[in-house]
Amino acid sequence: MMQLDLTETHEMIRDTAREFAQNEVAPTAIERDIKGEFPADAVKKLGELGFLGMMVSPEWGGAGLDAVSYVIAMEEVSKVDASVGVIMSVNNSLVCWALETYGTDDQKERFLRPLATGEKLGAYCLSEPEAGSDATQQRTTATLNEDGSWSLNGTKNWITNGTSADVYLVYAQTDKEKGYKGISCFIVEKGMPGFTHGVKEDKLGIRSSDTCSLQFQDVRVPAENMLGPEGRGFNLAMETLNGGRIGIAAQALGIAQGAYEAALAYSKERKAFGKPISDLQAIQFKLADMATKISAARALVYRAASQKDKHERFVKEAAMAKLFASKTAVEVALEAVQVHGGYGYVREYKVERYLRDAKITEIYEGTSEIQHIVIARELMRENA
Ligand code: CAA
Repeated sequence: MMQLDLTETHEMIRDTAREFAQNEVAPTAIERDIKGEFPADAVKKLGELGFLGMMVSPEWGGAGLDAVSYVIAMEEVSKVDASVGVIMSVNNSLVCWALETYGTDDQKERFLRPLATGEKLGAYCLSEPEAGSDATQQRTTATLNEDGSWSLNGTKNWITNGTSADVYLVYAQTDKEKGYKGISCFIVEKGMPGFTHGVKEDKLGIRSSDTCSLQFQDVRVPAENMLGPEGRGFNLAMETLNGGRIGIAAQALGIAQGAYEAALAYSKERKAFGKPISDLQAIQFKLADMATKISAARALVYRAASQKDKHERFVKEAAMAKLFASKTAVEVALEAVQVHGGYGYVREYKVERYLRDAKITEIYEGTSEIQHIVIARELMRENA
């Protein structure tokens, strides 16, 4: 079983993440959820722990850890608060990874280092009002100016860390004629003239993370801020998302584990028919199902991460992990509410938040329907 292969470093990461989540995140989680308040203090602490650039080389200010360490930390943090989980995941897998893989030394010095240390926060900007699952249909444009700079125009949607980030990876069409082969990636900085954001979305779940739209009106971006080669932006976006999906799968795993632990604890306390409800077979069977699904999800998540660590193709494994772990999170959270009965339906007992938070894991970084497409295409590719 893959969990048994964990090293001492992995166990240490788990302990550190668990302690951080319990002490720094848990006390304010319910209130931040209600108010939709960004966890600024927790994010600062995440940076100090090296959790915002976990897989980045120490040469660029990162912790130099493997993807297995990353999913362990993601699970622990998301078990307590999935909002903090997504902020962490986007910075690690969607922003730092792309900068480290495709950035020039100058870009790494200017952007990756402060992002890896937590001095700055990053956002990944692919989705648009009319380009969600069908991500090749980018409408945002980048037009070349005489001085070699680019002018960006367009709108991005559903951007995690949208109002709080300092560095934004923005995908735009540099040559519309070429379709997705004419998409390029740009590093846009907070405060660039013409770059504004919309109001924070009032979401069902992960309410403490800030999500908003972004507007670009003749935003002049210098030539040296293009990330990767011109016209390779879409491939860069997709490769980045492969790793991101492992992070979201781990977030979903954390939500499921948190909901399960809450249900288990409650079932031992709550008495009905003269005994704790954990003595009732109806409840025991629910717990058995929850624990089984979570174990299966964890095995898929660890497998995807360890495959990435071995530098093997992990597209299918990441999609399978995300598909299964997100479904597990929704199902387990729903059952956790049921185990709690009426108490599950009120905020104070926190399981309703797990249910609201779980749902997004079936939507972002590729819906479950898209994960089916990705898995099926990989199967066809392997069996061509
Ligand atoms: N890994 C690497 N490359 C990939 C890839 C993957 N998983 N999926 C597609 N590509 C590459 C293809 O190889 C192809 O490149 P080449 O022609 O150079 O070989 C190119 O991308 C286009 O691929 P397709 O021809 O397969 O395009 P398609 O339109 O048929 O399918 C898709 C593409 C898989 C549906 C893709 O659009 C997709 O993944 N959509 C979902 C988008 C998504 O996940 N958005 C998440 C938003 S970010 C977010 O949620 C972050 C957050 O804030 C939390």
